[in-house]
Amino acid sequence: MELTLVRAGQEHLPFIMATERGEGYEQLVGRWDEARHRAAFEDGSHAYFVGFEGGDPVGFALLRFWDSPERATLIRRVAVVTPGEGRGRRLLAAVVRRAFSETPVHRLQIGLFPDNLRARRAYEAVGFQAEGVSRGSAFFHGEYRDELVMSLLRPEWEARVTGISPDRSAR
Ligand SMILES: CC(C)(COP(=O)(O)OP(=O)(O)OC[C@H]1O[C@@H](n2cnc3c(N)ncnc32)[C@H](O)[C@@H]1OP(=O)(O)O)[C@@H](O)C(=O)NCCC(=O)NCCS
Repeated sequence: MELTLVRAGQEHLPFIMATERGEGYEQLVGRWDEARHRAAFEDGSHAYFVGFEGGDPVGFALLRFWDSPERATLIRRVAVVTPGEGRGRRLLAAVVRRAFSETPVHRLQIGLFPDNLRARRAYEAVGFQAEGVSRGSAFFHGEYRDELVMSLLRPEWEARVTGISPDRSAR
């Protein structure tokens, strides 16, 4: 099914907050209270996107350093309402397309807990590559947890879109 990606506003917060609190997500993904989300909207530090399929919201993504001068953007949080049905992959693919089309970003980064194999598989399907483990980088429920860092660089994304490998296009 086709996914429509919308740059979210504060009116989408109830959906976003319910989704990040999905059943079984407690150990997988961060969650913020309403005040923290509203602050992130108001200080402009994060860009929020919601994906719609058939008119219904199916998931969201929260990005930090959107359109930053450093040209590196962090996909800080992703969650869908019903996992394992391809929606996360479609959502992330749309977010990636949007980032590379609308901003000059060179590097998209996403972090996940190394045992979150479902997320890893979805991210790999979109083109992200695992780089290594960032030790103790996530302070999560009062503990320092390791994160697997994955990234997708612009030339790699362009190669996926055009079918021309980065090496060949550089010649
Ligand atoms: C991470 C998330 C956004 C991915 O979206 P999704 O819709 O579930 O992903 P997809 O259905 O597109 O792809 C999932 C892939 O993982 C596979 N998978 C499902 N459960 C799995 C498991 N337990 N172990 C390994 N792979 C698994 C699926 O088969 C699919 O791969 P395939 O299509 O190659 O067969 C979604 O699972 C989610 O919201 N999870 C809860 C919150 C979360 O973990 N967020 C990420 C924090 S970094």
